[in-house]
Amino acid sequence: MDAVNRQWLLRSRPIGMVKESDFELREAEIPSPADGEFLVKTSYLAFEPAMRGWMTDQESYIPPVALGEVMRGATVGEVIESNHPDFESGELVSTFDVGWQEYGVIGPGGMAPPIKVPEGVPPTIMLGVLGLTGLTAYFGLLDIGQPVSGDTVLVSGAAGATGSVAAQIAKLKGCRVVGIAGGPEKCAWLTDVAGLAGALDYKLGSVDTQIAESCPDGVNVFFDNVGGAILEAALNHLALNARIVICGGISAYNEATPPPGPSNLLNLAIQRGRMQGFIVTDFLPRFEDAATELAGWVMAGDIVYEEDIQTGFENAPKTFLRLFQGLNLGKQLLNISD
Ligand SMILES: NC(=O)c1ccc[n+]([C@@H]2O[C@H](COP(=O)([O-])OP(=O)(O)OC[C@H]3O[C@@H](n4cnc5c(N)ncnc54)[C@H](OP(=O)(O)O)[C@@H]3O)[C@@H](O)[C@H]2O)c1
Repeated sequence: MDAVNRQWLLRSRPIGMVKESDFELREAEIPSPADGEFLVKTSYLAFEPAMRGWMTDQESYIPPVALGEVMRGATVGEVIESNHPDFESGELVSTFDVGWQEYGVIGPGGMAPPIKVPEGVPPTIMLGVLGLTGLTAYFGLLDIGQPVSGDTVLVSGAAGATGSVAAQIAKLKGCRVVGIAGGPEKCAWLTDVAGLAGALDYKLGSVDTQIAESCPDGVNVFFDNVGGAILEAALNHLALNARIVICGGISAYNEATPPPGPSNLLNLAIQRGRMQGFIVTDFLPRFEDAATELAGWVMAGDIVYEEDIQTGFENAPKTFLRLFQGLNLGKQLLNISD
């Protein structure tokens, strides 16, 4: 075991684009598990754009991270000492209760129950396709988007962890799927590897024109991870009774002043469309069944996935920033194991 427990704390609430200096590296003692608790040594940290929101002082669907507190995030680690009847040394767990630190104690009363990584399953998949991002794609697309075979489904942030899974589930449901992503490499992955009908590079000219060309019959389901100008462009191309899934709006997460909303919301009335947001935890009781179905699709090769795995605990803030720089293809992870 190491002599100390390195931790990344939230130092300051970001204004505008999040900075590495908003975090502070500290060395602390390795905690000891009390009765009913167990100690975990972290192997992987997972990063999600929503963590930018947790750094503000605004109440949301979960409380903000306090200044001076260990940064919150999903992790996978190995149980190295246990005083808990259900967890044994050597087992791997995914958890929300450890965050950005090398060691953490898990006990009753955490944010969410720890989940054991099943034998033979790559641990990183529990943070991606079979973790919160895969589940977000599953419920957002199927429950909120309600795709029907033959629909045209448009997905923004399509080469990311959530978007790539949402797009492929839509394909599995018999839809014609077009993804929007930044850059030729991501667009090539969407068509050549994920097998989408089309991919639009939003950095390459008018998204509005590209949607018009690639979705000539209009968009039945728009799964939106980005918001802003891309949402506005999609609203111009709704088919009758379209469903717009507001999964996220990353384009505005680092804006000091939120930009004005889309100017064309009335298109929802004209096309009798429906726009609905959701938070994945709304579906908590169905997580296990959904993860089982997702695992089946992955094993059958119907869902392919990418992971961007950086290394080194000291690189946690830098790795988080990659999400906002568009550097990740698929799930953004950090391997901190020795
Ligand atoms: N509702 C929920 O419960 C829930 C749960 C999890 C995640 N989410 C949301 O789902 C979305 C995707 O999350 P994720 O974890 O899967 O991340 P991700 O898509 O793997 O990574 C973020 C991607 O967003 C794109 N991006 C960054 N800044 C952008 C900008 N200004 N304009 C357009 N695109 C930009 C980048 O791809 P490009 O290179 O293509 O720009 C980047 O790779 C986020 O909005 C997140 O908040 C919602």
